[in-house]
Amino acid sequence: MKRQIQIFDTTLRDGEQSPGFSMNVKEKLRLALQLEKLGVDIIEAGFPISSEGDFRAVKEISAAIEKTTIAGLCRARNADIDRAWDALRYAKKPRIHTFIATSDIHMEHKLRKNRSEVLSDAVNAVSHAKQYCNDIEFSAEDATRSDPEFLFEIFEAVISAGATVINVPDTVGYGLPWEFGKLIADIRARVPNIGKAVISAHCHNDLGFGVANSIMAVQNGAGQVECTINGIGERAGNAALEEIVMAMRVRHQEFECDTRVKQEELYPTSQMLTRITGVGVQPNKAIVGDNAFAHEAGIHQDGMLKNPLTYEIMTPQSVGVPENKLVLGKHSGRNALNERLKHLGFDFSRDELNKVYEGFIRIADEKKVVLDEDLVSLSTNGVTEVGNRFVQQDMQRYLNKY
Ligand code: KIV
Ligand code: ZN
Repeated sequence: MKRQIQIFDTTLRDGEQSPGFSMNVKEKLRLALQLEKLGVDIIEAGFPISSEGDFRAVKEISAAIEKTTIAGLCRARNADIDRAWDALRYAKKPRIHTFIATSDIHMEHKLRKNRSEVLSDAVNAVSHAKQYCNDIEFSAEDATRSDPEFLFEIFEAVISAGATVINVPDTVGYGLPWEFGKLIADIRARVPNIGKAVISAHCHNDLGFGVANSIMAVQNGAGQVECTINGIGERAGNAALEEIVMAMRVRHQEFECDTRVKQEELYPTSQMLTRITGVGVQPNKAIVGDNAFAHEAGIHQDGMLKNPLTYEIMTPQSVGVPENKLVLGKHSGRNALNERLKHLGFDFSRDELNKVYEGFIRIADEKKVVLDEDLVSLSTNGVTEVGNRFVQQDMQRYLNKY
């Protein structure tokens, strides 16, 4: 039996707070319902004291969601915690998530507090939250730039005060994978009461290590990872949920753990987020990008047609992408063209195919990608008519369209 890693989705909080990704209450509720369908364990629905909209979103999501834990973020202050609880009290499984910065740079310049003041704020916050519910998460903001000795001390103290999850945020995406893995291992070794809490990783992507650091955390004993759909989040984003989940599935022999996520819901969830926010994912994004399963080079297309395992480590269907896309462009070979033509209902002899291919290459020279409608037009005009006349017509149609 594999160890179950808890997936803590913060798309609606850390993701939503980044520029261009704001959502209204209705949109957040729609996405929360899809996240539950996806099978995440915890949905961080917002930061209730930060705005009326966040408060309402946390409250409505709490009331609507059946099985998933709902978390609300709050600073280590009683007023924040009280406000969060006013929204979370409607949840079947509420979690209060309180945080305070622990790095010298944050404590000195942002909080203007010394270590003992921060430690006592953290303990007071956890004790205050504990009167409302049992499930309390404590985050040491900027943990990767904090003195590890202070981290061990504060984690021990908040666990004694009742924290059930201790989160280790790489707030500024500074950690390197081996360092982050070691930090998690050291926390396990050096915090005497660590057995009473789950260790969580929250990794940002400023150096592109968000997912790698999360994986290293899991391999060193973390029981929860915090991540977002499409990797959205502050600055360069948070660790991408779909990448973490699929790393554990595709390379399952390397992992003694797994998640409850239904992988076929990954693409539909990514698409829903894109439609709601109007912000598309980069085409080459792993798992959910438009090109993640697209093959244009002739050699790749030929290999794919002979056996998809030649160039694909997972099938598009396995993550909910409707179909495998062979993108037809000037690098494509006859084999791939013929395969697409068959899908479109054409069955050409070798000679006919050669003529269609000639016309196809001419279009492909002018356009980046040859669409199905171009192929239908090219083929139904009669293979004997394939030539300049057709290409000119097609180009005209193309130019009119765009
Ligand atoms: O990045 C961060 O430190 C956070 C905390 C509030 C968990 O988002
Ligand atoms: Zn964050």
